[in-house]
Amino acid sequence: MTLFRAVQEALANVARHATAGKTGVTLSYMEDVVVADVRDDGVGFTPSDACGGGFGLTAMRQRVVRLAGNIEVESAPGQGTAISVTVPAIPIAAEQGAT
Ligand SMILES: Nc1ncnc2c1ncn2[C@@H]1O[C@H](COP(=O)(O)OP(=O)(O)O)[C@@H](O)[C@H]1O
Ligand SMILES: [Mg+2]
Repeated sequence: MTLFRAVQEALANVARHATAGKTGVTLSYMEDVVVADVRDDGVGFTPSDACGGGFGLTAMRQRVVRLAGNIEVESAPGQGTAISVTVPAIPIAAEQGAT
């Protein structure tokens, strides 16, 4: 659900801010993490300037950090944007408390 919300917000940002020609979403399952990437070829922005901007990226980061995950925002004016959200992959057996 956290990954879904993050991708939803990232795509809403592409629609709202990016003026992109293309956008791509990738979901990658690694051994111990799941990573969702959303990238676009739009106008980009300076990530440090966006801290006080909207609540979207801030809320996204809070939800992901609560799961011991991580967000990376790579962007620069004119360079498009790539947002990468990583959360730990917890095996179902461990989640249910089995040994
Ligand atoms: N894909 C993107 N392309 C260009 N700018 C972006 C993108 N995503 C975020 N931004 C910039 O980062 C700011 C903060 O985003 P966010 O926290 O979601 O707030 P909001 O969408 O409510 O403005 C946006 O206002 C915008 O300037
Ligand atoms: Mg937003």
